[in-house]
Amino acid sequence: MKARGTVRVPGDKSISHRALICAAVASGGESRIRGILRSADVESTASVLRTLGVPVPALSDDLSFEGVGFGGLREPGLPLLCGNSGTTARLMAGVAAASPFASRFEGDASLSRRPMKRVAEPLTAMGARIEFEREDGLPMTVYGGDLAGIAWNTRAASAQTKSAILFAGLVAGVGVTVRELRRSRDHTERMLASLGVPLTVGETSVSVTPASILQPLDISIPSDPSSAAFPAALGTLAASGEVRIPGVCINPTRIGFFNALSRMGGSARFLEKRTVAGEPTATVVVAPRKLHGIRIDADEVPAIIDELPMLACVAAASGVSLDVSGAEELREKESDRISVVVSNLNAIGAEAEEKRDGFRVHGRGARPLRGRVSTYGDHRIAMAFGVLGFLDGNEIELDDRDCVEVSYPGYWSDMASLVQ
Ligand code: S3P
Repeated sequence: MKARGTVRVPGDKSISHRALICAAVASGGESRIRGILRSADVESTASVLRTLGVPVPALSDDLSFEGVGFGGLREPGLPLLCGNSGTTARLMAGVAAASPFASRFEGDASLSRRPMKRVAEPLTAMGARIEFEREDGLPMTVYGGDLAGIAWNTRAASAQTKSAILFAGLVAGVGVTVRELRRSRDHTERMLASLGVPLTVGETSVSVTPASILQPLDISIPSDPSSAAFPAALGTLAASGEVRIPGVCINPTRIGFFNALSRMGGSARFLEKRTVAGEPTATVVVAPRKLHGIRIDADEVPAIIDELPMLACVAAASGVSLDVSGAEELREKESDRISVVVSNLNAIGAEAEEKRDGFRVHGRGARPLRGRVSTYGDHRIAMAFGVLGFLDGNEIELDDRDCVEVSYPGYWSDMASLVQ
């Protein structure tokens, strides 16, 4: 199979959520957001903001609206429906904690089993009251109000936890410091800095000083490196050709997949580098290569956390080994991605095993991969195993192709457009 062509993957999901939230609490004029990701997850953030009284229009490629300011959110008469989106629930929990009313957060079955205490603990320490119906997870009710500043050490490298605290501090007008063991994605910090919020960023820490208002933003959202990983994998595993993905965010906290691909002997080049909205971008160019096995350790995990299912499939398709450690966070994603990746690789004829904190793909040589994949409704599982289905000799059947809508609605047609 030849993979050739250019594919513009949609706007970055993490930046899209943050742009909507910043625009919602900004004051003093309209914000403008170009290239927002129009997917189910970002729709969840837009709809939660609407329920809180923010006039967010239907998502479009060029979106403008006026925010309500820090004190302008309205008590929601309805539950805040977060769908499948952990980023919506956790970041908006921070905003709700700083707002003087009760907000009940609900999610789908997958989101309801994901941990929320990691945001509830720091927000409670700041002065919010948060009630769970079960031990942890949604539904959760946040009783917000007067918050105090905080210095918090996160246990896992979680940008969602970090951002919940930063948004709570911002909207409440109190200073916060977050320290992490390993640096997680830093889009919130970059966006706030670009809007003039005073913050101090260290290697693994960030402190935000209270600001009286947030100015409106004007942003063009770069393409999502997590979505770009799929055409990049296809271009690497194809027999011939070249795949180009323009305008991809190459923030160092997000490019672990491309770095790992290069370490495996792949060719992922960054051309036409530019800075867009405080984020570095490039055209990512990949071509087929023969790969070899690698290990991924804890230090590398935050920058590749969402792409590990794709990397596992790349290793399996190439018949090379991949040994991942320090990635226990994978068990807390839209599915338990350690167990789901390993069981599906074994179901299609690759050999893999689970570890407590990662997995091992055995490098037993390239062979046809055939079988049925259970996605558990997890978009990244569907897309990662979907790549394998395009390769010569493989026959991959997915139980759910539509769950890609969560982050990449045009996925199947974009990928098919590259295959010759
Ligand atoms: C995200 C942070 C990561 C990532 C998720 C998006 C964000 O989650 O896996 O897809 O936008 O902040 P964690 O914060 O749980 O690591």
